[in-house]
Amino acid sequence: MTEDDSGTLPAGEVSRIELRGVYYAYRTGTGHLPVLDGLTFACGTGSFTAVVGPSGCGKSTLTRLIAGLMLPDRGEVLLHGEPVRSPRATVGMAFQNPVLLEWRTILANVLLPLEIVPNRLTREERRNRARELLALVGLGAFEDRRPSELSGGMRQRASLCRALVTRPEVLILDEPFGALDAFTREDLWQTMHALRREERFTCLLITHDLRESVFLADRVVVLSDRPATAQVTMEVPLGDKRALDDLYGTEASELQAELRQQIRIAQQARQTEPAA
Ligand SMILES: Nc1ncnc2c1ncn2[C@@H]1O[C@H](COP(=O)(O)OP(=O)(O)O)[C@@H](O)[C@H]1O
Ligand SMILES: [Mg+2]
Repeated sequence: MTEDDSGTLPAGEVSRIELRGVYYAYRTGTGHLPVLDGLTFACGTGSFTAVVGPSGCGKSTLTRLIAGLMLPDRGEVLLHGEPVRSPRATVGMAFQNPVLLEWRTILANVLLPLEIVPNRLTREERRNRARELLALVGLGAFEDRRPSELSGGMRQRASLCRALVTRPEVLILDEPFGALDAFTREDLWQTMHALRREERFTCLLITHDLRESVFLADRVVVLSDRPATAQVTMEVPLGDKRALDDLYGTEASELQAELRQQIRIAQQARQTEPAA
């Protein structure tokens, strides 16, 4: 375990994602709801960071700020060293609900971002790019199917392909495997490793599954309860090649226990809060 040094990167390295003292509050009918308060961390190029924290602590809010869908009230969100002011084409996103368009085939769904984001690819090149990704996630034989003909796990695979088809520098995943059964989820974890071997992106994964965070990420940021700050950051002591059995090894087990303890600490803060 390391102390929270997530705001610092090796000298000279431009972080792909960086948050500096981010404060954000929702304006509601009953006043301001502070959700993030002084959130600071950075993700180096090609890194894979998992973010865990109590339900409702501001994880999805964080993804919307990084995606440029909302702006922080105070502090800065930087992508590739530049402040985010609006949505960027260099960011790919996937969510718990894959929201595929039923009137389009799987291939046409994956192609959609290439029809929207300006690019120089020919029609043939776009299709080749989409097919390359579909093959990588095991959907090569399903490109002509409609979303409703696929299982939940397959739809989520297609959603990952759609998020990556433009070769985004940054991939943001907000609990993408949260609705899947345990075995399907583990298959998708393997797919994530395959994607990471073949594609180049910096990944931020929001998850409430601590095993998932340890199996996929290089390091895990635990958020405190709302208004959230980075409570602690822990490095994952597993190499690039990971097998599910590694999760039961001593180091990974200890890390999961420590993460559980940190989540408990964050949750206790809420229980001692005065009733609203
Ligand atoms: N559009 C909104 N307006 C007002 N409050 C919101 C809005 N979106 C989320 N919230 C509240 O902000 C807090 C953080 O939400 P969210 O970022 O979705 O949490 P998480 O993803 O960690 O579960 C929650 O209390 C939620 O109810
Ligand atoms: Mg959420």
